[in-house]
Amino acid sequence: MADITALEAHFQNTIDQEIKIEPKDWMPDAYRKTLIRQISQHAHSEIVGMLPEGNWITRAPSLRRKVALLAKVQDEAGHGLYLYSACETLGVERNELVEQLHDGRAKYSSIFNYPTLTWADIGVIGWLVDGAAIMNQVPLCRCSYGPYARAMVRVCKEESFHQRQGYEILLTLSKGTEAQRRMLQDAVNRWWWPSLMMFGPNDADSPHTAQSMKWKIKRFTNDELRQKFVDVCVDQAKLLNVTLPDPDLKWNEERGHYDFGEINWDEFWQVVKGHGPCNKERIDTRRRAHEEGAWVREAAMAFAEKQARRRAEESSQVA
Ligand code: 3HC
Repeated sequence: MADITALEAHFQNTIDQEIKIEPKDWMPDAYRKTLIRQISQHAHSEIVGMLPEGNWITRAPSLRRKVALLAKVQDEAGHGLYLYSACETLGVERNELVEQLHDGRAKYSSIFNYPTLTWADIGVIGWLVDGAAIMNQVPLCRCSYGPYARAMVRVCKEESFHQRQGYEILLTLSKGTEAQRRMLQDAVNRWWWPSLMMFGPNDADSPHTAQSMKWKIKRFTNDELRQKFVDVCVDQAKLLNVTLPDPDLKWNEERGHYDFGEINWDEFWQVVKGHGPCNKERIDTRRRAHEEGAWVREAAMAFAEKQARRRAEESSQVA
């Protein structure tokens, strides 16, 4: 028993000294478990997040918009792969993670269970969803687990492009026709509150935040990041000449932040539990894509095995 206590003390001391934990280092099972949980669900979010946007690639209003959206969706696939790879360093198989997504044991971000009804949704996803993702992911570049922190550095660089291309779409619409301005406001009305839900439940209702802060997986709490996000968005919304759909939103001089209304946590948990507008469609699509992509995985495995056999024959000839 004394050994484990000493190991845990050394582990926490390493983290407190801002030294990264690497795959081969000793770590408490609970640290490993919560990282597998968070990183795999982060990866699932990236992959499922491709679906709402992919829905508009064939309908982008210009070649320029289509190219930017294609690049963004491809980036999200890459983010998913970095994160699955970071998760595998914790001793878990990717197939197992994908199965957990498909059979409902694993979560992905609630935000991707809402439909993309108009082109303005694609701009609002860039501005608000990728904006919220950046707010959450920049601190993760300083996460105590090395592979996760390093994966986040590149992800954040690409997210900044995602956010800017989205905001530019909205700036264009905000200077467009009355119908385009209405389409923009409608999209903001539908995506504002689900975007605030991306940061997770209030700290008081979060079973993981306190421990994740101690282990420096999280550097800010859910509510702190949500508040920073709201503070940033209000001025950006003014530039777009849109109204954020919250009558309680107002500057609080004393706090130095914007006060905002109560999130509909019933809606949040309904969506997290699988009863959102698009949950079934998203998972059905992921399952179908996985099945239809089986031949690619089999071909890659066959090639890898052939390469391994050739290298083995070559080394036996040399020996
Ligand atoms: N959607 C679905 N589930 C959510 C959620 C959300 N928006 N917010 C919280 N939850 C779940 C948690 O996963 C946890 O359930 P679990 O124990 O089964 O995993 C439960 O609700 C309690 O929430 P906590 O706040 O206690 O959990 P965490 O400490 O894990 O915090 C988090 C939640 C802030 C999402 C954290 O996991 C995190 O920072 N994850 C990494 C970032 C991430 O996954 N972002 C998702 C979007 S990725 C994205 O947007 C890609 C971009 O390119 C568009």
